[in-house]
Amino acid sequence: MMKKRTPDLFDFLKMVPERIKKAENAPSDEIRHVSTYKANALAAALHPAVQHLTVSAVTPLSPDVKLYRLTPDKNAGTEKLAPFSAGEYISVTVKKDGCTYSRPYSIASSPLEAEYYYEIAVKRVKGGAVSPYIHDNWAVGTSVTASGPCGDFTYEPLRDAKTVVCAAGGVGITPFRSLARAVSEGSESFDLILLYCARKEEDILFKNEFDAMSRIKVVYVLSDEEKPGYEHGFAGAELIKKYAPAGEYSLFVCGPLAMYRFVGAATEKLGLRRKFVRLEAAGEKNDPKSEPDYTPADKESYTVKVIQNGTEKTVECGADETILRALERGGVSAPSRCRSGECGFCHCRLVSGKCYIPGSSDGRREADRIYGYIHPCATFPRSDLTVEVPDNPIGD
Ligand code: FES
Repeated sequence: MMKKRTPDLFDFLKMVPERIKKAENAPSDEIRHVSTYKANALAAALHPAVQHLTVSAVTPLSPDVKLYRLTPDKNAGTEKLAPFSAGEYISVTVKKDGCTYSRPYSIASSPLEAEYYYEIAVKRVKGGAVSPYIHDNWAVGTSVTASGPCGDFTYEPLRDAKTVVCAAGGVGITPFRSLARAVSEGSESFDLILLYCARKEEDILFKNEFDAMSRIKVVYVLSDEEKPGYEHGFAGAELIKKYAPAGEYSLFVCGPLAMYRFVGAATEKLGLRRKFVRLEAAGEKNDPKSEPDYTPADKESYTVKVIQNGTEKTVECGADETILRALERGGVSAPSRCRSGECGFCHCRLVSGKCYIPGSSDGRREADRIYGYIHPCATFPRSDLTVEVPDNPIGD
C-alpha cells in the first residue's frame, strides 16, 4: 500500500479555491441566526474588558499596605473571574470628585484561586490620587470595577530559562507572591529563587507564607539594618551571582524605579542575555527629568484640548506631568491599563502639538508613530496640544 504523503504548502494553497466555493454556496441563514459565536464568548470570558467585583476581605499587611480580596459581583453581571497567569495585573477604577482614575495592581493570589477570588496589595502613596482613597474607602462589600487580567510579566517556558531569579523590592513583591504560589502548588513548573529586598525586617510582607512554601528558595535582603539570617545591602550583581545557578537563568525584577536602575547595571555586569531579563512595568514616570533623553519645556504647563465622542474639553497639563494624569484630573474618562507606555490600551491621536516621549517608555508600534498616535500615560506636553481620546470601555 502506498504511504500517504504529508500535505505541503502547495496542498494547502489548492484548498483555498475549494473553500471559497464552499463558503459561497453555504446557506447564510445559520450565520444570521447565531446570536453569540462560541469563539467570541470564549474570548470575552478569557479577556473581559470589564469585571465587576466586590471586596470580600481586607487584611492590613503593614502600616501602609493592605491586602484586598476581590470576588465576582454576580448581581452586576460578572459570574466568574477571568483566569490569569501568575505575574499578570488588573487595572482597577476609582471614581471620586466626578473624575475617573485607574491604577494597575499585580494579582498577588495564585492562578488556581481565581476560581474564587483575586487578591491585590495596595500601598498608600502619600498625596496619591488613588491609593489613599482605596485605603480610606474600600471595605467589605465595596463594589469595584476592574479590567480583565493583562500584562506579560509571566513565565514562558519557550523563552525563559528553567531557573528564574526574582528580585523584588517593597510592594513589588506582589507578582512574585503569585508566581511563588503557582510554583508551590504545581501550576507552574520552574525553579524559583526569590531575592526579596526591604528596608527593615518589619517591612517584609508575606514572610510567614514564603517561609512555609515548598519548592522555592527565598533570600531576604535588608538595606537599612543588619541581622543574622538576612543579607544586607541591595540585589546587585554580587548577590545575584551568589544565589543564581552556574548555568542559564532568567531574571525577573519588580520594585521601585531606583531598583530597576540598580539591577539594570547588574545585568550588564552579569552578561545576561536580553531575553532572560524581564522588568515589570514600573508605572508612570513621575520624574522625567531623570531620563537620559529629557527634553526641557519652555513653559511650566500647557493646555490640552480633548476631543472625545464628538465633545470638546480643555484641561491643563504640567510640563512634567503625563497627559493621562491631566486627563483624569480634568474629568476625562480615558482608557488605560499598564500606565507605563507598554500595553497601548490608552493610545490616542495627537491632532496637533509637540510632545516629549522618554525613549525608555516609548512602547508605540511603528504604525502608531507613522499615523501620529501617542500613549498619553508615557507622554509629556511640549506645546499646547489637541488630542482625540477614544471612549473608555468602563464608561464615564
Ligand atoms: S496604559 Fe498601557 S500604554 Fe498607556
